[in-house]
Amino acid sequence: MRIDKLLSEMGKATRKESARLARLGKILVNGAVIKKCDMHIDPEKDTVIFCGERIVYKRFTYIMMNKPEGYVSATEDGREMTVLDLLPEEERRKELFPCGRLDKNTLGLMILTNDGENAHRLLSPKNHVSKTYRFKSKLPISEGEKQRLELGIDIGGYITKPCKIKLDGEASGEITITEGKYHQIKRMLEAVGNKITYLERITFGPLSLDTSLERGEWRYLSENEEKKLLEGENI
Ligand code: URA
Repeated sequence: MRIDKLLSEMGKATRKESARLARLGKILVNGAVIKKCDMHIDPEKDTVIFCGERIVYKRFTYIMMNKPEGYVSATEDGREMTVLDLLPEEERRKELFPCGRLDKNTLGLMILTNDGENAHRLLSPKNHVSKTYRFKSKLPISEGEKQRLELGIDIGGYITKPCKIKLDGEASGEITITEGKYHQIKRMLEAVGNKITYLERITFGPLSLDTSLERGEWRYLSENEEKKLLEGENI
């Protein structure tokens, strides 16, 4: 791999910046200063120091974010703030994208990655990755409505797959779905004459929202979380 590609993939510098910093003697490979960035290295074996920092190569990045209200789940939007705007420049350079969508006013667990293949697998309807949301509704949900929702309900020409609802009040609880149709939970509640007033995702497959993250904060997945997510444990 070219040294400038490594630095750009790790979010450290654009190719142009790498070339400039190499000329200034800021890049070392295995202890020797390199002046040009077209050098090929083995990112797993060679030691690269960039501006005094050891660069550890990692092919893909996985981030857990606690999404706040008011941000759209996209990489770019002409008018709205996107979840990418919550990341620092160094992370944004890594070509991350949200793994699945939450509505602008939905909160909670969002995974961002640049691993297209695994994101596609996690989002594929045939893999039935479960997602749990805390919700509040405008009106109480009766036992009959809960059953209709759980069995599958027509949300305008589409019958939803069976889901699980745990009520902890007459108009609040948790709902676990295994698919992700557009505005799915809002449309499900509308189908029983009700309305969602609060929606927060708290799990995604085997991962739970880290409650120490404030709204808008993020962290990398731990090695163990990454393993669980990628190996499909509990999915
Ligand atoms: N269902 C919705 O209606 N909105 C979301 O953001 C997620 C699931």
